[in-house]
Amino acid sequence: MSEATNAKRRAGEKSVEYIEDGMTVGLGTGSTAYHMVARLGERVREGLRVRCVPTSRRTEEQARALGIPLVTFAEVRQLDLTIDGADEIGPDLALIKGGGGALLREKLVAAASRRFIIIADAGKRVAALGQFPLPVEVVPFAWEVTTRRVAKVVGVEPSMRRAGADAYLTDNGNYILDCACGEITDPVRMERELKLLPGVVESGLFVRMADLAILAAEDGELEILERRA
Ligand code: 5RP
Repeated sequence: MSEATNAKRRAGEKSVEYIEDGMTVGLGTGSTAYHMVARLGERVREGLRVRCVPTSRRTEEQARALGIPLVTFAEVRQLDLTIDGADEIGPDLALIKGGGGALLREKLVAAASRRFIIIADAGKRVAALGQFPLPVEVVPFAWEVTTRRVAKVVGVEPSMRRAGADAYLTDNGNYILDCACGEITDPVRMERELKLLPGVVESGLFVRMADLAILAAEDGELEILERRA
């Protein structure tokens, strides 16, 4: 296992210590969340009782295979905790998410949770968001028009995410525009402006949502950050 993978595993496994018996838990998506779900599967086999909401089909499949009980929003109104990865972690735990394409469900699940914990390797921590291209999920209808609107907000030409020769499709049947906008000085304003555009379903900016971040360095050291603002 590479050192970066090992750091993701350590952060993912540590986060499972925050899950208590009887909790309803949102399960994130990505290579770091994968380790969290794997460890949770072990805890469930040992007798931990949880009900979980997955943020993607990929995570749903993994959780099902491990025997983790799953529920939908038809059965639960609020979750106790969601644990998920991130692509960038900026000041005050503002995030860029959606590198794995699951941003819409991830945001819905996180927004329905009392507590939101981020797990990542320490290299994801940045002084300002924006080095990682910001994913923006848009409906396929009139996506060309939406792309031009998004370009005006982010200040660069977005790039439509592809899966080989085809457009990448999210679990919700939408497209993703990746926006290499560089430093995002005001994530709150950018988020608000993107969400006002017709055709934009969700942006990968998660501001004032994460409560805690568990970061693992390659030497194995864990750092816990809490949101202050
Ligand atoms: C998926 C996400 C992931 O949490 C993010 O891309 C981090 O992934 P990884 O843990 O594989 O680095 O937002 O939509």
